[in-house]
Amino acid sequence: MSMSDLAEPQVKTRPVFPISDAKFRTLGMIKVAQKAVTAHGQVVTLAFEGDRNSTLLVAPRHTAFWRKNDHLFHKDIANPQTGVSAARDVLGKNLLTAGDTDEWTAMRKETLRVINTSKPWFDRSLRSATDDLIEVMLTKQSTPTLDHCVAWSVRMTCDALLGTDNLNQDAEDLVQSLNRAFLDMGTPNARVANENAKVRAAELLNQARAQHGPDSIAALAFGTDQFDSHVIGLLAASLHINALVLFWALLQIAENPDVQRKLHDEAAPLGDATRRLSNAPYAYATLQETQRLRPAMAFIERQVRERFVLDGYTFEPGETVLFSPWFAQRDEAAWPDAQSFDPMRFQTPSNIIDGSFFPFGTGPRMCPGSPIVNQQVAYAISSIAKALTLRLNPETRPGDLAPLFQINLEPRGPVYLLATPNPA
Ligand code: HEM
Repeated sequence: MSMSDLAEPQVKTRPVFPISDAKFRTLGMIKVAQKAVTAHGQVVTLAFEGDRNSTLLVAPRHTAFWRKNDHLFHKDIANPQTGVSAARDVLGKNLLTAGDTDEWTAMRKETLRVINTSKPWFDRSLRSATDDLIEVMLTKQSTPTLDHCVAWSVRMTCDALLGTDNLNQDAEDLVQSLNRAFLDMGTPNARVANENAKVRAAELLNQARAQHGPDSIAALAFGTDQFDSHVIGLLAASLHINALVLFWALLQIAENPDVQRKLHDEAAPLGDATRRLSNAPYAYATLQETQRLRPAMAFIERQVRERFVLDGYTFEPGETVLFSPWFAQRDEAAWPDAQSFDPMRFQTPSNIIDGSFFPFGTGPRMCPGSPIVNQQVAYAISSIAKALTLRLNPETRPGDLAPLFQINLEPRGPVYLLATPNPA
């Protein structure tokens, strides 16, 4: 072998896992990815029909590489096959969160200013939404628990983003119609679903225009040309995902009585005003452990911006890659006994290996909602554990509990939790 051969990186041929649309629909993304990774390892290209390829990069070291080399990746709005471009189709052409633009930078700054736990609406909406959640979990047990969580999420978020909580029903309708529009993309129903979502969004915004209070995103964004896509983009990014994270946490609690007891013991002496992350570390650890095993965003898509070599494979500009909280967060090397639910892992956060925990993404585009949503969900977990004992309704079909990743990670069917009140 010559010296020049030694200087060149060893470039390997990437394994490819072909997948038909029909098989993808039956199995879902997680099962498809699982099969591909089991067959070929932690770097594998999924080859979908229609010449669409996405390469899974599922190891914690891949996420660590992304975090250190963010400039190699971007969200490519110009490419119609990307997730961000699809989101723009549904949410409006101006969607500010989509590409790496100046508007995106401005939007992030504004969002972080408003999405802030020191605002007056924070305590008000969190307490009333959580009190209502406890009430309906006791009185409406034949409603799927996820529906209750959506109502909880909508109540808090409308106050923050629209500056009013008078529009909860309209916002719940919007969640359903946006989900429908995303799920119907590429099918014969797409146009109707998309139009319907747009009509709902316009109705909600018209109402918000008439009612919005100070200190809301609506108040800040009025007067800007892109108001609609700004607010709708934020609602779409937050309403359903918040509900799902709370839902998965409640399910884990119901299925782990020891965890439920510890949460109750921690919460019992705390009053409403003091039930904060700093006083409820076990509730926060329960939320993090939930997000480790049930990351609402199980895959995060990027396009390659500049050529690079990783694990001996060359990646070219324009390619799509998928980093994966779902896989990296259950990597046995990073998380011993990875499949078991154990909030105590998060008691010593310094042990967490780089790239092995990123439910809110990483780098400059990490979720701006994470600080607030952590407070909100941990508060709800703690309040519920104080007030109620949960268990899974045995009539829930086991198959319905399995996670399915479409827009976010959802249960495959309706799941019902039974609640009994704890003694005061
Ligand atoms: C538990 C609930 C949530 C989870 C798990 C979550 C997760 C994520 C993740 C993984 C990303 C990164 C996507 C990427 O890198 O491509 C993201 C981005 C984003 N999230 Fe969240 N999110 C949550 C709640 C929220 C809330 C409450 C808001 C707003 C109030 C929000 C607004 C956004 C926005 C605007 C972006 C785009 C940021 C950018 O591109 O700069 N999210 N979220």
